[in-house]
Amino acid sequence: MNFGKKTEPVKTEPVQPVQDPFIPVKVPALFIRSARVEDKDQILRLGNSIEELKWNLTSPFLTEEELEDYLKYHNHSFVATIAGKIVAFVIGEKSGPLDRLGCIVFLAVALEYRKLGIARALLLECEEDLNTKDMYLLSTSESSTRFYEHLGYREGKTVSYMSKERES
Ligand SMILES: CC(C)(COP(=O)(O)OP(=O)(O)OC[C@H]1O[C@@H](n2cnc3c(N)ncnc32)[C@H](O)[C@@H]1OP(=O)(O)O)[C@@H](O)C(=O)NCCC(=O)NCCS
Repeated sequence: MNFGKKTEPVKTEPVQPVQDPFIPVKVPALFIRSARVEDKDQILRLGNSIEELKWNLTSPFLTEEELEDYLKYHNHSFVATIAGKIVAFVIGEKSGPLDRLGCIVFLAVALEYRKLGIARALLLECEEDLNTKDMYLLSTSESSTRFYEHLGYREGKTVSYMSKERES
């Protein structure tokens, strides 16, 4: 989705904590910050534990290399932590012609921390960071479609999604 472009690695230090109005009041110990390369293993563990993130039943949600690439070169990603443990993440990227589209690539919250406003907080943070007029995403389940609709997303009308399975 990034058309093979590589920009300079995003500087991740010093990490500025994101403590702002997006933080849900229901989880006072929650901390939202930019994702770093060192978060890779925790993000992979959490992502791989969530069925809805798999494009199909056999492939992982992202390989280690793909995730590292996102975190190093296209970093519009955030994590939510409680006592240092990552409980949710969002991976965003700019894409499309001239990077004019903001894309939510993956958004996930650990099962035990859902319905507390964490995904909303991460989504808003990522949208702000991408700072594009148009946002898009691929929804992988009815439940996530309902979630995104609740937060203002609508089925695309101007561009249709077409797919083709290829031998890789
Ligand atoms: C979808 C998901 C990210 C939502 O996370 P969450 O932290 O529970 O969501 P929030 O608590 O921030 O919910 C924000 C709002 O959306 C609503 N909402 C959450 N899940 C919803 C759902 N499945 N259907 C409809 N509304 C939903 C909440 O009720 C809340 O509404 P309110 O603020 O008006 O009370 C989470 O269920 C998840 O990780 N699912 C598996 C992965 C996935 O499908 N990701 C999306 C595709 S990449």
